[in-house]
Amino acid sequence: MCGIVGYIGKNLVSPILLNGLKRLEYRGYDSAGISILQNGQILTLKKAGKVAELESLLNHNDYDSKIGIAHTRWATHGEPNDLNAHPHFDNSKEISLVHNGIIENYASLKKNLTERGYYFESDTDTEVLAVLVGHFYIKTKDLCESVRLALNEVTGTFGIVVMSSNEPNTLVAARRGSPMVFGIGDDEFIIASDASAIIAHTKQVIYINDNEMIIVNQNTFHTKTIYNEKTDNKIHEIEFDLTQIEKGGFPHFMLKEIYEQPITFKDSFRGRIIQKEGDIKLGGLRSVAENLRNSKRIIITACGTSWHSSLVGEYLIENFANIPVEVEYASEFRYRNPVINKDDIVFAVSQSGETADTLAAIKEAKQKGAIVLGIVNQVGSSIARETDAGMYIHAGPEIGVASTKAFTSQVSAFILIALYLGRMKNISKSDGMRYCNEISLIPDKMQSILDNAEAIKEIAKHYSYANNFLYLGRGYNFPVALEGALKLKEISYIHAEGYPAAEMKHGPIALIDENMPVVIIATKDEIYEKVISNIEEVRARGGKVIAIATEGDENIKNYANHIFYIPETLSFLTPLLAVIPLQLLSYYMAVELGRDVDQPRNLAKSVTVE
Ligand code: F6R
Repeated sequence: MCGIVGYIGKNLVSPILLNGLKRLEYRGYDSAGISILQNGQILTLKKAGKVAELESLLNHNDYDSKIGIAHTRWATHGEPNDLNAHPHFDNSKEISLVHNGIIENYASLKKNLTERGYYFESDTDTEVLAVLVGHFYIKTKDLCESVRLALNEVTGTFGIVVMSSNEPNTLVAARRGSPMVFGIGDDEFIIASDASAIIAHTKQVIYINDNEMIIVNQNTFHTKTIYNEKTDNKIHEIEFDLTQIEKGGFPHFMLKEIYEQPITFKDSFRGRIIQKEGDIKLGGLRSVAENLRNSKRIIITACGTSWHSSLVGEYLIENFANIPVEVEYASEFRYRNPVINKDDIVFAVSQSGETADTLAAIKEAKQKGAIVLGIVNQVGSSIARETDAGMYIHAGPEIGVASTKAFTSQVSAFILIALYLGRMKNISKSDGMRYCNEISLIPDKMQSILDNAEAIKEIAKHYSYANNFLYLGRGYNFPVALEGALKLKEISYIHAEGYPAAEMKHGPIALIDENMPVVIIATKDEIYEKVISNIEEVRARGGKVIAIATEGDENIKNYANHIFYIPETLSFLTPLLAVIPLQLLSYYMAVELGRDVDQPRNLAKSVTVE
């Protein structure tokens, strides 16, 4: 949440910062601002609204400055107006600071500073930190030391970059709980809250650790902890290319990412399937293979879309590995004193690898002695580093705020884990081979759905009048119904509920009338007949039925108002296919209603606050 970028180097800074903000805008887009050093003084421009507003304020003015910091905000403390936009200053206006995270003790710090005669212009917690740095600067006359002392007073989370007109060749950055990546370029350094703002300059990066600071001068940098201990950092190489974070001809990132799924799904199992053995190889879990095999219970913790894929994971692992699984919202897990036994294994699932609730759940589980494994997309992210072992899903950067390709790749990870455990236990080689073969056919089946996207567009047009939607599914497709409803809510702002189809009669059926479209996943499997009964119940009350059905199912035509066919596959693989028309439905619905698909209101990618 919130995007941060700082630059020091050989080039003019304002276009670099602006481009960085554009790359980071998916992380927050309530307001944006920039501070640069101009004629020995800090020049700051900031504006409520999207980065485009800031761009018009800059008015193509390439200021003669080669150092600066910038921010795009997702508001936590204080409404998103010009005053609350970052950067913020100390009272001398010589120190400027951008911040991602929450200063939890900001109220007591503010009171203390007010009593000492300091004043505040905004409602933000960030300004309190800036003023505190300024307070220490009066004594120390050293930017790095002032930042360090201020951070020692703070509880909460931060990713910050600070500059001062008194030290025109220095940037100081630090993090606790909010990501910070430091890029080492050719006579230039760029620091940002994620690698997408860095990749245009360099692929060589250092991931800053919690409670670590980096002090950057024109040609050098060094790191230490905020407690003044020396640290050593490895240089990593960013694994993606610039083209992967561009729209590549698609009107929106979300659509691009939906269309990437045949490839991203293939990437998720590449090198992990041993077809001739009907077996699965998971290098990242090798060190905990015995713990997994002997585990008495698996707990999966995640948020949002990742929580939905985890529910599919629950069904898969229980079915194939015969291990009891519980899926927990990460935000609840931490606060309800969960029981974790000796042989339990905890999985944490996250696309960004930075979700604060999930990170907190991991810490809770570790404190209780559990082995915690990660299923993560973002390489080098906090969750990837906090967990004991795990697997990357290799979906590549996901920029669209609504998560799409991460879902199918996370489901893929669970399929692989379930079969891996199942083969250790009771799945035969021949069944293993059959499953592996079916998995390898999925990318082409995904593609055939995408080739037929026009049909979903038509359905979206037809139902764009509706204010409410119900999504129903059973078995493996119940979580898909939840995911379809979430997608619709997020980007089209239409109220939607996901339910297990049979649960409808226990309450939600009261909502059904001729104005209520009901999306039902009715693929041909062992519970097909039961789902048809649920469709009958909807039809009997005048509800309109949009069915996701299996190719060749003529019978469904007797029941549904609209049908979208998906290719046949094994029932445990259907979520991979059934979710795609639902992603497309929400996308086309949002476009039809003129919504901002990639930057839906109130949302931001990667929720790094609790
Ligand atoms: C939904 C969405 C969110 C995320 C949730 C978890 O489209 O994007 O619900 O799924 O915030 O994020 P990660 O997976 O990054 O932990």
